[in-house]
Amino acid sequence: MPKKSGVSKGFAVAFVVLTVCAIAGMISMMVVYEIQTNGLNMTAPPIITTSTPPPPPVMRLPRSLIPESYDIILQPHLYTSIKEEVNVTTPNQTLTFTGNSTVHFQCHQDTMYIFLHSLGLNVFAPRVIDKDTGNPITVRSVKHHKDVSHFLEINVDGRFKTGGNYSLFLAFEGEISEYLQALYVSKYTETNKEAVNETIEERFLAATNLEPTSARRLFPCFDEPDMKAAFRLKVIHRRETTALSNTRPSPDSYVLDEDWKLTSFYETPKMSTYLFAFTISQDDFTYIDSPASQVNIRTYARPEAMEAGHVEYAAKITAKILEFYEGHFGLKYEMKDLDQIALPDLEPLAMENWGLITYQEGALLYEEGVSSWLHKELITSVIAHELAHQWFGNQVTMKWWNEIWLNEGFATYMSYLAVDHAEPSFQIKEKLIMDDLHTAFEEDALLTSHPLSTPSDYVQTPGEILGMFDAISYSKGAMVLRMLANHVGEDSFDNGIREYLRVYQGRNVEQGDLWELIQNEVDQKKFNIPSFMKSWTTQIGYPVITINTTSGEIYQKHFLYNSSVVSSLWWEIPFKYTTNITLPKSIELVIDGPEVKPMDELISKKGEWILANINCTAYCRVNYNPENWQRLLSQLETNPDRIPVMNRAQLIDDAFNLARAKLVNVTLALNSTRFLRKEKAFLPWESAVRNLGYFVLMFDRSEVYGPMQLYLRHQVEELYNFFKNHTDNSTVPENHSLQHNQITAIEVACFSGLLDCIEMATAMFADWMNTNPTNNFALPSTDLAKWNLTTCRHSQSIDI
Ligand SMILES: *[C@@H]1O[C@H](CO)[C@@H](O)[C@H](O)[C@H]1NC(C)=O
Ligand SMILES: *[C@@H]1O[C@H](CO)[C@@H](O)[C@H](O)[C@H]1NC(C)=O
Ligand SMILES: *[C@@H]1O[C@H](CO)[C@@H](O)[C@H](O)[C@H]1NC(C)=O
Ligand SMILES: *[C@@H]1O[C@H](CO)[C@@H](O)[C@H](O)[C@H]1NC(C)=O
Ligand SMILES: *[C@@H]1O[C@H](CO)[C@@H](O)[C@H](O)[C@H]1NC(C)=O
Ligand SMILES: *[C@@H]1O[C@H](CO)[C@@H](O)[C@H](O)[C@H]1NC(C)=O
Ligand SMILES: *[C@@H]1O[C@H](CO)[C@@H](O)[C@H](O)[C@H]1NC(C)=O
Ligand SMILES: *[C@@H]1O[C@H](CO)[C@@H](O)[C@H](O)[C@H]1NC(C)=O
Ligand SMILES: *[C@@H]1O[C@H](CO)[C@@H](O)[C@H](O)[C@H]1NC(C)=O
Ligand SMILES: *[C@@H]1O[C@H](CO)[C@@H](O)[C@H](O)[C@H]1NC(C)=O
Ligand SMILES: *[C@@H]1O[C@H](CO)[C@@H](O)[C@H](O)[C@H]1NC(C)=O
Ligand SMILES: *[C@@H]1O[C@H](CO)[C@@H](O)[C@H](O)[C@H]1NC(C)=O
Ligand SMILES: [Zn+2]
Repeated sequence: MPKKSGVSKGFAVAFVVLTVCAIAGMISMMVVYEIQTNGLNMTAPPIITTSTPPPPPVMRLPRSLIPESYDIILQPHLYTSIKEEVNVTTPNQTLTFTGNSTVHFQCHQDTMYIFLHSLGLNVFAPRVIDKDTGNPITVRSVKHHKDVSHFLEINVDGRFKTGGNYSLFLAFEGEISEYLQALYVSKYTETNKEAVNETIEERFLAATNLEPTSARRLFPCFDEPDMKAAFRLKVIHRRETTALSNTRPSPDSYVLDEDWKLTSFYETPKMSTYLFAFTISQDDFTYIDSPASQVNIRTYARPEAMEAGHVEYAAKITAKILEFYEGHFGLKYEMKDLDQIALPDLEPLAMENWGLITYQEGALLYEEGVSSWLHKELITSVIAHELAHQWFGNQVTMKWWNEIWLNEGFATYMSYLAVDHAEPSFQIKEKLIMDDLHTAFEEDALLTSHPLSTPSDYVQTPGEILGMFDAISYSKGAMVLRMLANHVGEDSFDNGIREYLRVYQGRNVEQGDLWELIQNEVDQKKFNIPSFMKSWTTQIGYPVITINTTSGEIYQKHFLYNSSVVSSLWWEIPFKYTTNITLPKSIELVIDGPEVKPMDELISKKGEWILANINCTAYCRVNYNPENWQRLLSQLETNPDRIPVMNRAQLIDDAFNLARAKLVNVTLALNSTRFLRKEKAFLPWESAVRNLGYFVLMFDRSEVYGPMQLYLRHQVEELYNFFKNHTDNSTVPENHSLQHNQITAIEVACFSGLLDCIEMATAMFADWMNTNPTNNFALPSTDLAKWNLTTCRHSQSIDI
């Protein structure tokens, strides 16, 4: 947003004066806002279409040959440590791997060609066998396509006959990546205690990260998620290293020579190529077992992390979560064993490879007494997400990447339940839900959003596939599933997904398969699941419902920040509402068309307020007539607990975003934060801080900064004092939601210049400097007051 000058200093002054009594001073901000946004030239694209360009030529493998299994041998020529020896030239690290593979496939339609994927590999020595006769088939040509299809085209003499069984052998060599893709090298340091003087030495390990389309960089394969096959892997690795893969090593492993050994792994279940994985690390990368569990769970980490006990929390909680899922899904984890490993380098946070889950160290290792409990929450939710994938994704997989939300939405949604079960004291369910709701709302209000289930033609190239791993697939996916569960009832929903996992175990699905099974669980006359879900998964965006409690009229429209865009999209929206008279009883309503509907029950008869979308179960925003807004806001100020905490947070978020879309006055948005002066719960504060942070960015900061600080200082004072005993004593409250809010209180108080906070922070900092004399930097105390709101928010990568 461009900054505009010419805003009178007077507004700021007025603001300062008025905020002292914390009332209408915000009008100045409103005026500034109006000036700023009206100054922007918003041109209106009139029609909403999917924003991606037309699809390139077909990038999909033909279905004439279907793989059944692979025999793979891989040998990474990597040194895990480089030892200096007298008179021997120190070897350079080598970053190559060699290997060969045989893929066994069946012919489903006569053809002369094998098409599969291969990228960055040098392939040679092709051999094709007709397995039914045992005869070789002559290979005429082997050709890498030079486009983003990454096809390897093999032309043979004669034909593959429908129903016939064949195999293709290829030898190959490739490079170990230094960029965390495919098979990559990761570096870390280790203290060598055996050296005469302890030394810090560099170590290397190799790991794979293949989702979505990097298996083709490791070995030639049918690299599409529905080309599921069984994998039999042998890894040749240096003798002082350990190799891990999806399954455990079989007894058929042995030492080859002075330098190398071979580890052979049991066959995997049939699975998608992107779930294939292995790691090679020094033998001192060890594991601990999880306590009593039917599945053998091992958690691996660097020796130093292991010795310090940083792996224990993950090992413990993994068993608990896995057991929860087995019960909740009514389906056992498919394999006997589960390994997880903390890698010094990995992008994303974690990857759900079947039987060998890889994590960034920070997403798995927990240091009791040192790591913050925020960190513990992150670890628990990442583990819960990856374990959910062992069913949603690994067992039942989307047919194609256009519906990756079936993996990611489910993993995200299920992690709420699992974390809440495994660590009830975290009380984190509502927080996780609000995080995803707001992340999704933000992305999905833009015209550049995409439908959850994008037409597959638009998701063809590796770039387009990668583009599907975004907030829509993860967060909106989870929110839409949550809405469905609330609409049909959690019992019906749970029964439906149990059937889904049971029926499609080991297979690939499209979303319609899921709707059908949930439909079977519910009254056909009351619910039409496919039609209900269509509006949420096949079009972009989300609605705002507007309720006029004077006339009882209710209608919906597409919520977009760009208010000049015309959209005719509409949704089937189920939501619960309540009034301050009927409370706590709530009533469900469904609105399912674009027209304005008058509904008697929405008319406020005795001046009562109406609150719609209890607990934010519907993926929509709500707007009201100004009178109802006023009643809600005064309820918030007199007795906020009458309104559920998620709605307290959402009223603020809606008010600010409706203002941003010019559907309400900015004054209303600012008014919606007034009740915070008495609020102790985290979610409403979090909502306000995030929205005000954006607000600051919208203005010329010099004009608004001061008034904003004053206002916030006034609002936060009581909250800060509430935590003061804890803060001054460097302790935290027991309740996790309050723990979160203690952080917010300190951030906002110091940001807004609350003297007490600054003194506390300065003293604590000085103290810390004294007790840690090695800290060779100094932070002037005034900087503490300039903490900015966005810097400290706990943003995390969602790509897991
Ligand atoms: C190292 O090499 C030098 C000269 O090349 C030789 O004189 C010396 O004996 C060698 N030392 C050892 C331990 O091999
Ligand atoms: C290591 O690499 C350097 C630079 O590429 C090269 O000059 C040197 O000969 C290599 N050493 C060995 C032992 O391969
Ligand atoms: C495949 O690779 C392994 C290990 O390098 C090798 O021993 C074997 O001979 C190769 N197979 C063929 C058929 O070349
Ligand atoms: C070990 O450290 C001592 C004292 O710093 C030094 O004198 C000695 O040379 C070191 N030994 C080696 C092998 O580096
Ligand atoms: C409901 O709220 C309205 C407006 O705030 C108020 O006038 C009325 O007394 C409230 N009724 C009850 C039962 O709380
Ligand atoms: C809303 O959520 C709260 C806490 O999560 C719960 O106690 C309450 O029953 C929910 N209300 C409805 C109507 O579902
Ligand atoms: C609500 O309905 C009343 C009665 O029809 C009307 O006078 C008023 O303008 C409406 N308010 C809004 C915000 O549309
Ligand atoms: C916003 O406030 C202005 C004046 O303060 C008023 O004219 C306008 O109607 C209000 N807009 C809405 C959407 O309430
Ligand atoms: C904001 O609150 C003030 C004080 O109660 C009130 O006068 C004003 O009408 C409110 N404005 C809006 C748009 O809610
Ligand atoms: C801080 O903690 C100490 C020891 O736990 C306690 O004695 C003291 O009362 C606490 N101070 C405050 C202000 O809570
Ligand atoms: C804080 O500690 C003081 C002294 O220990 C005590 O009087 C006061 O009640 C405590 N305040 C809170 C909010 O716990
Ligand atoms: C806050 O800090 C972030 C990161 O340091 C920076 O990108 C942003 O511009 C800052 N915002 C404000 C309002 O100062
Ligand atoms: Zn995931």
